[in-house]
Amino acid sequence: MKILGVETSCDECAAAVVEDGQKVLSSVVATQIPWHEPWNGVVPEIASRMHTEWITGVVKEALSRAGLSPENLDGVAATARPGLLGSLLVGLSFSKSFAWARRLPFLAVDHMLAHLYAPRLDAGKNAEGPAGAPPVAYPFLGLLVSGGHTIICRADDFDRVTVLGATIDDAVGEAFDKVAKHYAFGYPGGAVIDRLADGGDSEAFRFPLPNLHKGEHRYDVSYSGLKTAVINQLEQFRVKTRGTDEAADIAASFRKTAVEILLRPLFRAAEDTGLSTIVAGGGVAANSLLRSRLAARRDLRCVFPPPEFCGDNGAMIAGLGFQYLSRGETSSLTVTASARVAGFKRRYP
Ligand code: KG4
Ligand code: ZN
Repeated sequence: MKILGVETSCDECAAAVVEDGQKVLSSVVATQIPWHEPWNGVVPEIASRMHTEWITGVVKEALSRAGLSPENLDGVAATARPGLLGSLLVGLSFSKSFAWARRLPFLAVDHMLAHLYAPRLDAGKNAEGPAGAPPVAYPFLGLLVSGGHTIICRADDFDRVTVLGATIDDAVGEAFDKVAKHYAFGYPGGAVIDRLADGGDSEAFRFPLPNLHKGEHRYDVSYSGLKTAVINQLEQFRVKTRGTDEAADIAASFRKTAVEILLRPLFRAAEDTGLSTIVAGGGVAANSLLRSRLAARRDLRCVFPPPEFCGDNGAMIAGLGFQYLSRGETSSLTVTASARVAGFKRRYP
């Protein structure tokens, strides 16, 4: 079965065609980065307007690269939540109309569950990722790290996810973005800091770690303390005199702490649950230090999506949509978008 997947929850206008939930026949990601760059962050109004202008072309391109026409499709999936409301509505409304006009089954899917699904995609023989790798068996631990979410969870199926821990304030990607914005390192912040940090001294500053290992916060994380320390109290945490590349030293020390904050509760969860497979997803899963720290744990198996499917893309939406459809489930055309997922603290979605 060939499913068209549409993703417009933030600043990427994306569409893809995926066969049988795994084989990616095409994936088009039109990024709006240059339009948001002057503001050092995503401007919701600009994002939804760009999606409106681009969505038809992006979907056409995805079909053309797959060598297909709409008649060859078996279903249409779109992100319905969570995300920027105006942006979500563009992709969702387009997809519902497309499905209705073509009499195709429609599937409204959750963006975070789709990130968790991304490692199951096969990017083909030219990809760096685990092409043809056996599917990851459930249950496993999930690490969902993006601009809006930081979730440590247990996945028992593609749609049966229990949240073990989450951020009590800012998301990890948001912390990367805010620090980069404050120091004018560039945009988008996460990737820029990751690159800059490679040339810096991670011992130049010793930033504080949150003290959240007790009681119901055992697997939770917090980033507001680190963000404040890096942005407002930098000198208090300096342990070395000014190096030759101050920006790189700040980036390296921040990256090291940001990754440590994630890994502590994640490793705690692995120990407590006995689960030794970790699936990482979301834009921050592209972070090179996070990847190398996880790879260094020989007792754990860490699975990452192919790099092109770490950030937002339509293929993960199409793949997840296929799973619902193959179980005989479809979504009503009356479904609407929601910016947040209500009550997701201990159960997701
Ligand atoms: O999943 P995603 O593409 O969009 C959301 O759903 O939010 O994630 C975007 C986030 C941004 O905060 C971006 O700064 C961060 O992922 N990011 C990174 C890296 N690449 C992207 N953070 C750290 N290191 C990276 N290499
Ligand atoms: Zn995302």
